[in-house]
Amino acid sequence: MHIFTNQKLDANQDLRRKKIKDLLAYVEENCSAGKTIDFGQTAFNTSLNLLSNTIFSMDLVDPNEREFKDTVWGIMEEVGKPNLSDHFPLLKMLDLQGIRRRNTLYSGKMFEVLDRLIDQRLKQRQEHGCSISTESKDTLDTLLNIIQEKSVEFDTKHIKHLLADLFIAGNDTTSITLEWAMAELLHNPKVLSKAKLELKQTVGKGSPIDESDIARLPYLQAVVKETFRLHPAVPLLIPRKASEGVEIASVTVPKGAQVFVNVWAIGRDENIWDNPHSFKPERFLGSDVDFKGQNFELIPFGAGRRICPGLPLAIRMLYLMLGSLINSFDWKLEDESMDMKEKFGLTIQKAKPLRAVTIAI
Ligand code: HEM
Repeated sequence: MHIFTNQKLDANQDLRRKKIKDLLAYVEENCSAGKTIDFGQTAFNTSLNLLSNTIFSMDLVDPNEREFKDTVWGIMEEVGKPNLSDHFPLLKMLDLQGIRRRNTLYSGKMFEVLDRLIDQRLKQRQEHGCSISTESKDTLDTLLNIIQEKSVEFDTKHIKHLLADLFIAGNDTTSITLEWAMAELLHNPKVLSKAKLELKQTVGKGSPIDESDIARLPYLQAVVKETFRLHPAVPLLIPRKASEGVEIASVTVPKGAQVFVNVWAIGRDENIWDNPHSFKPERFLGSDVDFKGQNFELIPFGAGRRICPGLPLAIRMLYLMLGSLINSFDWKLEDESMDMKEKFGLTIQKAKPLRAVTIAI
């Protein structure tokens, strides 16, 4: 309610605009040097900086903060590993695979960075003699204002944990979706041409996308929906526990059972989708089906009260990155026989990283 409303996000879109310029400059530099772009890595770095600028007005992917990036990456890898202790609770204490030990280490490092950044901001606010900032529009200032206004019971410790949650939940998911979208576009040249044509006619060839352009790009929106259908970044959502026994479609779910919602399978269900395995954004043109939790056939962000709170920011970041990358460059795969296999984890990554080169600007 306080940090991801359209009003708040409109107010800090400048912070993200700058990061898209950096992304395009990075690709151009590599393109001039004839180097290949690793989309997973590039998208991860850009998403992290888009997030850190929205939250702190600063880059967290820079040579001085390499540790933060490695920490976010490390936590995602560890929580996504199949953990024996989840299946045999008696083994929990032993932490046989060392997952808990490594995660404690990563979390400690992440909290150190967050503590430092929160302290710095508090000092700055004191030095400027105002406890409530009206100037800065980033998430940290909004949260610190809430503490000072005492409108919600909340302190800096809550802020630290909330921010850690946002970085862990928001970065990998967004960058993986971008990598899959690009992989599908490079796999389906006709779709890519249509998306490029729409951008050329609406935004102008070579221009970066603005957040206000998104509403005028229905085909790009359909490309993103189709990517979510086939490649939901969190394939089983977050596990739930039945608070009481319930019968669903003549199956009894006992009280306390752990429940997984297989969004990945719903997206490929022949009873719901025509030709479910082909990438056809056209299926969404003229259709009201959206990913905002109202249409249960497409719930990559979940649904109901625990729906992803970062959805409004996630889709802005995705459209900005995807639209700008295909509007500013023509792309060619490094290896024409691209592999579309998936790698198992809490999020589904491409097993083989997507690598491509630009062929013209
Ligand atoms: C394409 C990008 C994203 C996808 C596909 C995605 C998907 C999801 C899903 C499926 C859930 C679990 C919902 C459920 O089980 O019902 C979730 C939870 C969450 N997401 Fe996202 N997400 C994305 C981006 C983001 C971003 C950018 C942020 C924040 C900046 C974010 C923050 C969160 C948080 C904090 C939760 C946990 C909410 C809770 O405690 O229940 N996500 N997300």
